[in-house]
Amino acid sequence: MNDLFLRAARREAVERVPIWIMRQAGRYLPEYRAVRERVDFVTLCKTPELAAEVTLQPVERLGVDAAILFSDILVPAEPMGFGLDFQPGPVIDPPVRSAADVERIAVFEPESEVPFVYETIRIVRRELQGRVPLIGFGAAPLTLAAYLVEGRGSKNFDHLKALLYGEPRTAHALLDKITSTLELYLRAQIRAGAQAIQVFDTWAGILSAADYAEFALPYVKRLLSFLEGAGAPRIYFALDSAHLLEEISECGADVIGIDWRTSLSEASRRLGHRFVLQGNLDPCVLLSPVAEIERRAKAVLEDGAAAPGHIFNLGHGILPNVPVEHALRLVETVQSAVLKRSGS
Ligand code: CP3
Repeated sequence: MNDLFLRAARREAVERVPIWIMRQAGRYLPEYRAVRERVDFVTLCKTPELAAEVTLQPVERLGVDAAILFSDILVPAEPMGFGLDFQPGPVIDPPVRSAADVERIAVFEPESEVPFVYETIRIVRRELQGRVPLIGFGAAPLTLAAYLVEGRGSKNFDHLKALLYGEPRTAHALLDKITSTLELYLRAQIRAGAQAIQVFDTWAGILSAADYAEFALPYVKRLLSFLEGAGAPRIYFALDSAHLLEEISECGADVIGIDWRTSLSEASRRLGHRFVLQGNLDPCVLLSPVAEIERRAKAVLEDGAAAPGHIFNLGHGILPNVPVEHALRLVETVQSAVLKRSGS
Protein backbone atom coordinates (compact mmCIF):
# COMPACT_ATOMS: atom_id res chain seq x y z
CA MET A 1 0.00 0.00 0.00
CA ASN A 2 1.22 3.47 -0.95
CA ASP A 3 0.59 5.74 2.04
CA LEU A 4 3.25 8.35 1.16
CA PHE A 5 0.63 11.07 0.80
CA LEU A 6 -0.84 10.43 4.26
CA ARG A 7 2.57 10.18 5.89
CA ALA A 8 3.69 13.44 4.29
CA ALA A 9 0.45 15.13 5.36
CA ARG A 10 1.05 13.95 8.93
CA ARG A 11 4.59 15.27 8.75
CA GLU A 12 6.09 11.78 9.03
CA ALA A 13 9.19 10.58 7.19
CA VAL A 14 8.78 9.72 3.49
CA GLU A 15 11.11 8.11 0.95
CA ARG A 16 10.07 10.61 -1.73
CA VAL A 17 7.70 13.51 -2.25
CA PRO A 18 4.16 12.31 -3.08
CA ILE A 19 2.19 13.90 -5.92
CA TRP A 20 -1.45 14.33 -6.85
CA ILE A 21 -2.98 16.94 -9.16
CA MET A 22 -5.87 19.27 -8.42
CA ARG A 23 -8.73 18.51 -10.86
CA GLN A 24 -6.86 15.35 -11.86
CA ALA A 25 -10.11 13.75 -13.01
CA GLY A 26 -11.27 15.94 -15.86
CA ARG A 27 -11.49 16.95 -19.46
CA TYR A 28 -7.79 16.57 -20.34
CA LEU A 29 -8.32 12.79 -19.99
CA PRO A 30 -9.92 11.12 -23.07
CA GLU A 31 -11.49 8.47 -20.82
CA TYR A 32 -13.20 11.27 -18.82
CA ARG A 33 -14.50 12.88 -22.01
CA ALA A 34 -15.86 9.48 -23.09
CA VAL A 35 -17.92 9.24 -19.88
CA ARG A 36 -19.08 12.86 -20.27
CA GLU A 37 -20.37 12.12 -23.77
CA ARG A 38 -22.92 9.85 -22.15
CA VAL A 39 -23.96 11.96 -19.12
CA ASP A 40 -23.95 15.61 -18.09
CA PHE A 41 -21.70 16.80 -15.28
CA VAL A 42 -24.38 16.93 -12.54
CA THR A 43 -25.63 13.44 -13.42
CA LEU A 44 -22.03 12.21 -13.31
CA CYS A 45 -21.61 13.63 -9.78
CA LYS A 46 -24.88 11.98 -8.69
CA THR A 47 -24.21 8.51 -10.13
CA PRO A 48 -21.86 6.72 -7.71
CA GLU A 49 -20.67 3.99 -10.10
CA LEU A 50 -19.70 6.58 -12.72
CA ALA A 51 -18.25 9.09 -10.23
CA ALA A 52 -16.15 6.27 -8.76
CA GLU A 53 -14.97 5.21 -12.21
CA VAL A 54 -13.89 8.76 -13.02
CA THR A 55 -12.21 9.17 -9.61
CA LEU A 56 -10.02 6.16 -10.39
CA GLN A 57 -9.07 7.23 -13.94
CA PRO A 58 -6.06 9.42 -12.98
CA VAL A 59 -4.86 6.78 -10.51
CA GLU A 60 -4.80 4.21 -13.31
CA ARG A 61 -3.53 6.51 -16.05
CA LEU A 62 -0.99 8.66 -14.18
CA GLY A 63 -0.09 6.63 -11.10
CA VAL A 64 -0.63 9.60 -8.76
CA ASP A 65 -0.12 9.00 -5.03
CA ALA A 66 -3.68 9.93 -4.02
CA ALA A 67 -7.19 9.82 -5.44
CA ILE A 68 -9.62 12.72 -4.97
CA LEU A 69 -13.35 12.14 -4.85
CA PHE A 70 -15.07 13.14 -8.08
CA SER A 71 -17.68 15.69 -7.12
CA ASP A 72 -17.91 19.48 -6.95
CA ILE A 73 -17.70 22.11 -4.25
CA LEU A 74 -21.21 23.23 -5.27
CA VAL A 75 -22.93 19.89 -4.63
CA PRO A 76 -24.25 21.14 -1.22
CA ALA A 77 -26.07 24.03 -2.95
CA GLU A 78 -29.06 21.90 -4.03
CA PRO A 79 -29.91 20.45 -0.61
CA MET A 80 -29.40 23.94 0.86
CA GLY A 81 -32.34 24.94 -1.33
CA PHE A 82 -30.82 26.33 -4.55
CA GLY A 83 -31.11 25.30 -8.16
CA LEU A 84 -27.71 24.23 -9.55
CA ASP A 85 -26.72 24.03 -13.18
CA PHE A 86 -23.44 24.05 -15.13
CA GLN A 87 -23.51 25.99 -18.43
CA PRO A 88 -20.55 25.05 -18.30
CA GLY A 89 -19.73 27.50 -15.45
CA PRO A 90 -21.90 27.02 -12.34
CA VAL A 91 -25.25 28.83 -12.07
CA ILE A 92 -27.06 29.02 -8.73
CA ASP A 93 -30.65 30.15 -8.71
CA PRO A 94 -32.02 32.18 -7.03
CA PRO A 95 -28.94 33.80 -5.49
CA VAL A 96 -28.82 35.03 -1.88
CA ARG A 97 -29.45 38.76 -1.65
CA SER A 98 -31.22 39.39 1.68
CA ALA A 99 -31.55 38.30 5.30
CA ALA A 100 -34.78 36.50 4.34
CA ASP A 101 -32.84 34.50 1.72
CA VAL A 102 -30.34 33.47 4.40
CA GLU A 103 -33.21 32.51 6.69
CA ARG A 104 -34.57 30.09 4.07
CA ILE A 105 -31.30 28.14 3.65
CA ALA A 106 -31.54 24.58 4.97
CA VAL A 107 -28.78 23.07 7.13
CA PHE A 108 -29.36 19.61 5.70
CA GLU A 109 -28.65 16.10 6.88
CA PRO A 110 -25.92 15.03 4.42
CA GLU A 111 -26.25 11.22 4.38
CA SER A 112 -29.94 11.39 3.46
CA GLU A 113 -29.80 14.43 1.13
CA VAL A 114 -26.64 13.68 -0.88
CA PRO A 115 -26.20 9.92 -0.37
CA PHE A 116 -24.41 9.66 -3.74
CA VAL A 117 -21.36 11.47 -2.31
CA TYR A 118 -20.92 8.91 0.43
CA GLU A 119 -21.74 5.94 -1.77
CA THR A 120 -19.06 7.10 -4.25
CA ILE A 121 -16.53 7.26 -1.41
CA ARG A 122 -17.41 3.73 -0.29
CA ILE A 123 -17.12 2.34 -3.83
CA VAL A 124 -13.77 4.09 -4.45
CA ARG A 125 -12.30 2.83 -1.17
CA ARG A 126 -13.40 -0.70 -2.04
CA GLU A 127 -11.94 -0.51 -5.55
CA LEU A 128 -8.69 1.13 -4.45
CA GLN A 129 -8.04 -1.68 -1.97
CA GLY A 130 -5.50 0.52 -0.23
CA ARG A 131 -3.45 1.23 -3.37
CA VAL A 132 -3.50 4.97 -2.61
CA PRO A 133 -5.45 7.10 -0.10
CA LEU A 134 -8.70 8.90 -1.00
CA ILE A 135 -9.09 12.65 -0.45
CA GLY A 136 -12.53 14.14 0.19
CA PHE A 137 -13.20 17.83 -0.25
CA GLY A 138 -15.50 20.80 0.00
CA ALA A 139 -15.53 24.56 -0.36
CA ALA A 140 -14.37 26.93 2.32
CA PRO A 141 -17.30 28.97 3.72
CA LEU A 142 -16.37 32.23 1.97
CA THR A 143 -15.99 30.52 -1.42
CA LEU A 144 -19.36 28.78 -1.15
CA ALA A 145 -20.90 32.09 -0.03
CA ALA A 146 -19.35 33.76 -3.09
CA TYR A 147 -21.23 31.40 -5.44
CA LEU A 148 -24.49 31.51 -3.47
CA VAL A 149 -24.52 35.33 -3.45
CA GLU A 150 -23.24 35.99 -6.97
CA GLY A 151 -25.21 33.11 -8.48
CA ARG A 152 -22.28 32.41 -10.79
CA GLY A 153 -18.57 33.10 -11.20
CA SER A 154 -17.75 36.79 -11.16
CA LYS A 155 -14.98 39.23 -11.99
CA ASN A 156 -15.44 41.73 -9.16
CA PHE A 157 -17.75 39.83 -6.79
CA ASP A 158 -19.73 43.02 -6.36
CA HIS A 159 -22.86 41.37 -4.93
CA LEU A 160 -20.79 39.42 -2.40
CA LYS A 161 -18.81 42.47 -1.35
CA ALA A 162 -21.97 44.60 -1.14
CA LEU A 163 -23.30 42.06 1.36
CA LEU A 164 -20.04 41.73 3.35
CA TYR A 165 -19.40 45.47 3.60
CA GLY A 166 -22.97 46.81 3.63
CA GLU A 167 -24.83 44.15 5.62
CA PRO A 168 -22.18 42.42 7.72
CA ARG A 169 -24.72 40.91 10.13
CA THR A 170 -26.50 39.16 7.27
CA ALA A 171 -23.15 38.11 5.81
CA HIS A 172 -22.07 36.59 9.13
CA ALA A 173 -25.42 34.80 9.46
CA LEU A 174 -24.88 33.33 5.97
CA LEU A 175 -21.28 32.28 6.68
CA ASP A 176 -22.35 30.76 9.99
CA LYS A 177 -25.05 28.65 8.32
CA ILE A 178 -22.71 27.58 5.52
CA THR A 179 -20.06 26.56 8.05
CA SER A 180 -22.54 24.41 10.01
CA THR A 181 -23.55 22.76 6.74
CA LEU A 182 -19.97 22.08 5.65
CA GLU A 183 -19.04 20.69 9.07
CA LEU A 184 -21.62 17.92 8.73
CA TYR A 185 -21.02 17.42 5.00
CA LEU A 186 -17.25 16.91 5.43
CA ARG A 187 -17.38 14.93 8.66
CA ALA A 188 -19.70 12.50 6.90
CA GLN A 189 -17.13 12.18 4.08
CA ILE A 190 -14.53 11.10 6.65
CA ARG A 191 -17.01 8.66 8.20
CA ALA A 192 -17.70 7.17 4.75
CA GLY A 193 -13.97 6.60 4.15
CA ALA A 194 -12.26 9.82 2.99
CA GLN A 195 -8.73 9.64 4.44
CA ALA A 196 -7.90 13.34 4.09
CA ILE A 197 -9.97 16.46 3.43
CA GLN A 198 -9.10 19.42 1.23
CA VAL A 199 -10.93 22.71 1.76
CA PHE A 200 -10.88 24.86 -1.41
CA ASP A 201 -10.92 28.62 -0.82
CA THR A 202 -10.79 29.66 -4.45
CA TRP A 203 -12.04 33.20 -3.84
CA ALA A 204 -10.26 34.08 -0.57
CA GLY A 205 -7.81 36.21 -2.53
CA ILE A 206 -10.43 38.79 -3.50
CA LEU A 207 -10.40 40.08 0.09
CA SER A 208 -7.88 42.30 1.85
CA ALA A 209 -6.11 40.77 4.85
CA ALA A 210 -8.41 42.68 7.23
CA ASP A 211 -11.59 41.49 5.48
CA TYR A 212 -10.21 37.96 5.20
CA ALA A 213 -9.62 38.06 8.97
CA GLU A 214 -13.23 39.09 9.52
CA PHE A 215 -15.19 37.11 6.92
CA ALA A 216 -13.13 34.07 5.96
CA LEU A 217 -10.57 32.99 8.57
CA PRO A 218 -12.91 32.55 11.60
CA TYR A 219 -15.15 30.18 9.60
CA VAL A 220 -12.24 28.22 8.10
CA LYS A 221 -10.84 27.83 11.61
CA ARG A 222 -14.18 26.63 12.97
CA LEU A 223 -14.63 24.17 10.09
CA LEU A 224 -11.11 22.73 10.37
CA SER A 225 -11.29 22.52 14.15
CA PHE A 226 -14.62 20.66 13.87
CA LEU A 227 -12.85 18.08 11.67
CA GLU A 228 -9.80 17.81 13.93
CA GLY A 229 -9.27 14.45 15.55
CA ALA A 230 -11.43 12.59 13.00
CA GLY A 231 -8.32 10.82 11.72
CA ALA A 232 -8.04 12.65 8.38
CA PRO A 233 -5.37 15.31 7.73
CA ARG A 234 -6.88 18.64 6.70
CA ILE A 235 -5.51 20.59 3.72
CA TYR A 236 -6.44 24.24 3.25
CA PHE A 237 -5.92 25.74 -0.20
CA ALA A 238 -6.58 29.44 -0.77
CA LEU A 239 -5.89 30.60 -4.30
CA ASP A 240 -4.11 33.92 -4.85
CA SER A 241 -3.44 34.32 -1.14
CA ALA A 242 0.14 35.64 -1.00
CA HIS A 243 -1.12 38.70 0.90
CA LEU A 244 -2.95 36.48 3.42
CA LEU A 245 -0.25 34.03 4.54
CA GLU A 246 0.17 35.51 8.02
CA GLU A 247 -3.59 35.17 8.63
CA ILE A 248 -3.64 31.70 7.05
CA SER A 249 -0.94 30.55 9.50
CA GLU A 250 -3.71 30.67 12.15
CA CYS A 251 -6.23 28.49 10.28
CA GLY A 252 -5.35 25.24 12.06
CA ALA A 253 -4.85 23.06 8.95
CA ASP A 254 -2.26 20.27 8.79
CA VAL A 255 -1.25 21.13 5.22
CA ILE A 256 -1.39 24.47 3.40
CA GLY A 257 -1.76 24.60 -0.38
CA ILE A 258 0.24 27.32 -2.13
CA ASP A 259 -0.29 28.60 -5.66
CA TRP A 260 2.55 29.37 -8.09
CA ARG A 261 2.67 33.07 -7.28
CA THR A 262 4.64 32.48 -4.05
CA SER A 263 7.67 30.21 -3.80
CA LEU A 264 7.31 27.34 -1.33
CA SER A 265 10.41 28.48 0.60
CA GLU A 266 9.04 31.99 1.03
CA ALA A 267 5.59 30.66 1.95
CA SER A 268 7.13 28.34 4.54
CA ARG A 269 9.10 31.18 6.07
CA ARG A 270 6.03 33.40 6.28
CA LEU A 271 4.02 30.54 7.77
CA GLY A 272 6.66 30.14 10.49
CA HIS A 273 7.91 26.78 9.11
CA ARG A 274 4.97 25.17 10.89
CA PHE A 275 3.16 23.46 8.01
CA VAL A 276 3.54 20.77 5.41
CA LEU A 277 3.10 22.60 2.10
CA GLN A 278 1.28 21.41 -1.00
CA GLY A 279 2.00 22.78 -4.47
CA ASN A 280 2.91 24.72 -6.50
CA LEU A 281 3.81 24.28 -10.18
CA ASP A 282 2.03 26.77 -12.45
CA PRO A 283 -0.63 24.69 -14.30
CA CYS A 284 0.45 26.37 -17.56
CA VAL A 285 3.89 24.76 -17.29
CA LEU A 286 2.18 21.53 -18.40
CA LEU A 287 1.63 23.17 -21.80
CA SER A 288 5.43 23.56 -22.27
CA PRO A 289 7.85 21.05 -23.82
CA VAL A 290 8.67 18.12 -21.50
CA ALA A 291 12.24 19.31 -20.83
CA GLU A 292 10.83 22.52 -19.38
CA ILE A 293 8.24 20.60 -17.34
CA GLU A 294 11.04 18.48 -15.86
CA ARG A 295 13.25 21.48 -15.14
CA ARG A 296 10.50 23.42 -13.39
CA ALA A 297 9.19 20.39 -11.48
CA LYS A 298 12.68 19.77 -10.09
CA ALA A 299 12.94 23.43 -9.09
CA VAL A 300 9.65 23.13 -7.16
CA LEU A 301 10.96 19.98 -5.43
CA GLU A 302 14.16 21.75 -4.37
CA ASP A 303 12.25 24.76 -3.13
CA GLY A 304 9.73 22.57 -1.26
CA ALA A 305 12.57 20.98 0.72
CA ALA A 306 12.67 24.19 2.80
CA ALA A 307 9.26 23.31 4.35
CA PRO A 308 8.71 20.74 7.15
CA GLY A 309 7.06 18.52 4.54
CA HIS A 310 6.04 18.71 0.89
CA ILE A 311 3.23 17.23 -1.19
CA PHE A 312 3.73 18.02 -4.86
CA ASN A 313 0.77 19.49 -6.74
CA LEU A 314 0.00 22.18 -9.26
CA GLY A 315 -0.69 25.68 -7.98
CA HIS A 316 -4.31 25.32 -9.19
CA GLY A 317 -6.34 22.83 -11.23
CA ILE A 318 -4.97 21.12 -14.33
CA LEU A 319 -6.16 22.76 -17.55
CA PRO A 320 -8.38 20.88 -20.05
CA ASN A 321 -5.89 21.41 -22.91
CA VAL A 322 -2.92 19.70 -21.22
CA PRO A 323 -1.59 16.69 -23.20
CA VAL A 324 -1.93 13.55 -21.08
CA GLU A 325 1.73 12.63 -21.82
CA HIS A 326 2.79 15.89 -20.18
CA ALA A 327 0.85 15.13 -17.00
CA LEU A 328 2.37 11.65 -17.00
CA ARG A 329 5.88 13.05 -17.46
CA LEU A 330 5.32 15.35 -14.47
CA VAL A 331 4.27 12.46 -12.24
CA GLU A 332 7.27 10.37 -13.37
CA THR A 333 9.67 13.26 -12.77
CA VAL A 334 8.44 13.84 -9.23
CA GLN A 335 8.28 10.15 -8.37
CA SER A 336 11.80 9.43 -9.59
CA ALA A 337 13.40 12.41 -7.84
CA VAL A 338 15.70 11.72 -4.91
CA LEU A 339 14.49 13.32 -1.71
CA LYS A 340 16.48 16.31 -0.55
CA ARG A 341 15.62 17.67 2.84
CA SER A 342 17.31 20.49 4.63
CA GLY A 343 18.96 19.10 7.78
CA SER A 344 19.02 15.47 6.64
O1 CP3 B 1 -9.89 17.38 -8.45
C1 CP3 B 1 -10.66 16.52 -8.93
O2 CP3 B 1 -10.35 15.78 -9.88
C2 CP3 B 1 -11.99 16.31 -8.26
C3 CP3 B 1 -13.09 16.97 -8.88
C4 CP3 B 1 -13.34 18.47 -8.69
C5 CP3 B 1 -14.19 19.15 -9.60
N1 CP3 B 1 -14.39 20.41 -9.12
C6 CP3 B 1 -14.79 18.58 -10.81
C7 CP3 B 1 -15.26 19.46 -11.88
C8 CP3 B 1 -12.97 19.37 -7.70
C9 CP3 B 1 -12.03 19.18 -6.53
C10 CP3 B 1 -13.65 20.59 -7.98
C11 CP3 B 1 -13.55 21.78 -7.12
C12 CP3 B 1 -14.14 23.04 -7.59
N2 CP3 B 1 -15.30 23.23 -8.29
C13 CP3 B 1 -13.60 24.31 -7.29
C14 CP3 B 1 -12.39 24.55 -6.43
C15 CP3 B 1 -11.13 24.34 -7.19
C16 CP3 B 1 -10.84 25.42 -8.17
O3 CP3 B 1 -10.80 25.09 -9.37
O4 CP3 B 1 -10.62 26.55 -7.75
C17 CP3 B 1 -14.43 25.27 -7.89
C18 CP3 B 1 -14.24 26.77 -7.86
C19 CP3 B 1 -15.50 24.58 -8.51
C20 CP3 B 1 -16.66 25.18 -9.21
C21 CP3 B 1 -16.73 24.76 -10.62
N3 CP3 B 1 -17.05 23.50 -11.06
C22 CP3 B 1 -16.51 25.58 -11.75
C23 CP3 B 1 -16.11 27.04 -11.71
C24 CP3 B 1 -16.71 24.77 -12.87
C25 CP3 B 1 -16.72 25.22 -14.33
C26 CP3 B 1 -15.37 25.51 -14.82
C27 CP3 B 1 -14.78 24.27 -15.42
O5 CP3 B 1 -13.69 23.89 -15.00
O6 CP3 B 1 -15.43 23.74 -16.32
C28 CP3 B 1 -16.99 23.47 -12.43
C29 CP3 B 1 -17.24 22.27 -13.26
C30 CP3 B 1 -16.36 21.10 -13.00
N4 CP3 B 1 -16.04 20.58 -11.75
C31 CP3 B 1 -15.76 20.24 -13.98
C32 CP3 B 1 -15.09 19.23 -13.28
C33 CP3 B 1 -14.34 18.06 -13.87
C34 CP3 B 1 -15.91 20.38 -15.48
C35 CP3 B 1 -17.25 19.82 -15.82
C36 CP3 B 1 -17.29 19.15 -17.17
O7 CP3 B 1 -16.97 17.93 -17.26
O8 CP3 B 1 -17.70 19.82 -18.12
